[in-house]
Amino acid sequence: MASIVTCIAPVNIAVIKYWGKRDEKLILPLNDSLSATLSTEQMHAKTTVMISPNFTKDRIWLNGKEESFENPRLVACLREIRKRATSKNGKNCELKVHICSENNFPTAAGLASSAAGYACLVYTLGKAFGVEGDLTSIARQGSGSACRSLMGGFVRWMKGTQNDGSDSIAEQVFHENHWADMRVLILVVSDSRKKVSSTSGMQLSVKTSDLLKHRVQNVVPQRTKEMIQALESKCFHTFAELTMRDSSSFHAVCLDTYPPAVYMNDVSHSIVDFVHRYNKLKGSNKVAYTFDAGPNACLFLLEEDVPEVVGLIKAVFPPHVEGKTFMRGLPVENAVIQQDMDLLLPSGPHEAGMIKYVIHTKVGSGPKTLDGKNCHLLNDEGLPKNLIS
Ligand code: DP6
Repeated sequence: MASIVTCIAPVNIAVIKYWGKRDEKLILPLNDSLSATLSTEQMHAKTTVMISPNFTKDRIWLNGKEESFENPRLVACLREIRKRATSKNGKNCELKVHICSENNFPTAAGLASSAAGYACLVYTLGKAFGVEGDLTSIARQGSGSACRSLMGGFVRWMKGTQNDGSDSIAEQVFHENHWADMRVLILVVSDSRKKVSSTSGMQLSVKTSDLLKHRVQNVVPQRTKEMIQALESKCFHTFAELTMRDSSSFHAVCLDTYPPAVYMNDVSHSIVDFVHRYNKLKGSNKVAYTFDAGPNACLFLLEEDVPEVVGLIKAVFPPHVEGKTFMRGLPVENAVIQQDMDLLLPSGPHEAGMIKYVIHTKVGSGPKTLDGKNCHLLNDEGLPKNLIS
């Protein structure tokens, strides 16, 4: 008898960044990291897993195209799931699987797609094979940051000290409703440059950056403690400062890498400048930026400040064509921009189209299983319903 299951999993954005591994194969990090899980309403990965005695080999389709099953990270995730299934119930674990996965947001936008993708893969495989218990140590072997997408709210990935990685797992530190008015704006920035992947960028940083050693030993441990306190007491001003400092510390390590790994571009730096000017004008931190291994900005802010900040983003970074597609996700009320906000435009607005679009979202929950036949990405024969030839 064939069985089929479909799940969705969220994107996560680190506020204390993971950068550098102590074990490349098991994907064990050099430092703890901490992230916010984003709502699956706006952005998610979706995966269908089908197990059938009729299948002759394991097969996978990503965003409508069949991929080879040779990727060692994919192989490791499936092997670990089968191992757990064998020791648990022996059921079905020798049967072959068909996997189909897609993102509902553009992979090309350079957003954290591998984290959501691997989290969804491992979560769905876990459901299909009836595996219980911690899955973060398996998801980590797909992509390090993926282990933080298995839970909602604010999640900490502990580096652990064991060589086998058994204590390098992720745990929820605060529930998704803990800070209910926290909002997120993802500013998708135009970029034509070919970027260095996180995997190879961090490998080179471990080899060549002295600053990385300092970050791992002296900066991250203290900052993680302070971040948890700021989240606990919901002190936005401190949360924002720690988030911005950690983003810059990570990009400083990238520049200290030899040859340098450059991820932020001129638009990214203009966004940094805009946020600092705005916070200064307001007299305290109202907005925090953070950048991953690409030029897109992720802004954290409170719900009450969204209309004004979005209004100013549109004025400072005018869209190519003002229309519905610039602002996506949660609705935003129109705000009357105060006169003194002109100070944010020292030399007038930037040329149009530097920010392609903005996704407005919030902190959300972990992966979910979907119900109903229509939700599956595979048909009764185990082939993708939507195939891109
Ligand atoms: C900058 O998890 O993509 O987004 O473990 O090699 O797959 P691999 O790397 P990945 O690195 C993410 C790096 C980051 C920071 C973060 O998410 O913590």
